[in-house]
Amino acid sequence: MENINPRKVLVVVYSFSGTTRAAAETLIQHFDADSLVIQASQYEGKPGVWIAGMQAMRKIRTTSITPETMDMSQYELIFLGSPIWWFSPAVPLWAFAGINDFTNKSVVLFNTYNSRYREKYISEFQDLIEARGGSFKDHIAIARGSVSKHGSPEVRQELDSLLSQKENIYEHIIGEVFCSDE
Ligand SMILES: Cc1cc2nc3c(=O)[nH]c(=O)nc-3n(C[C@H](O)[C@H](O)[C@H](O)COP(=O)(O)O)c2cc1C
Repeated sequence: MENINPRKVLVVVYSFSGTTRAAAETLIQHFDADSLVIQASQYEGKPGVWIAGMQAMRKIRTTSITPETMDMSQYELIFLGSPIWWFSPAVPLWAFAGINDFTNKSVVLFNTYNSRYREKYISEFQDLIEARGGSFKDHIAIARGSVSKHGSPEVRQELDSLLSQKENIYEHIIGEVFCSDE
């Protein structure tokens, strides 16, 4: 019989130069998830990189994004992903998290980065998700490493390896998802 149940996992991603998008593709395949790509055209091009750096440094938490919202009612587990900018998740992801309602959702933050991020900002992101009604379950940090790894199989391999170490967390959440359907 055909499975008419809607998908329960959503991957939302903002990616400036493609690396986090590659990580998102791995998650989409792994969890058979739906996806939403956030666009923020103000950061495109050379001036855009400068603006991104300045806003991230100043800990700006809102910016113009497309789309701003999405009907997330069917999802139980939501992955939110972005690169790290100035040791913190990128501004467009803060904007998405600050606008949307995560009531009764399990939320996992995933980030790609190439040198360092600060736990302080991950905790602040967790606080924001919880203030928006969500249950923050995990942070997946994917060290992209050298520029040659950009968007490459190494990003996917690193994430696959991290996911296999974290299987218990996700089995538990998805188990709950399947149970809630019965
Ligand atoms: C404006 C800007 C700021 C960045 N700041 C950091 C940082 O503080 N720490 C870090 O490890 N990487 C930093 N990076 C590197 C990115 O996090 C890394 O290259 C990421 O994998 C890019 O993902 P994307 O291709 O999805 O945009 C920064 C990149 C940009 C463009």
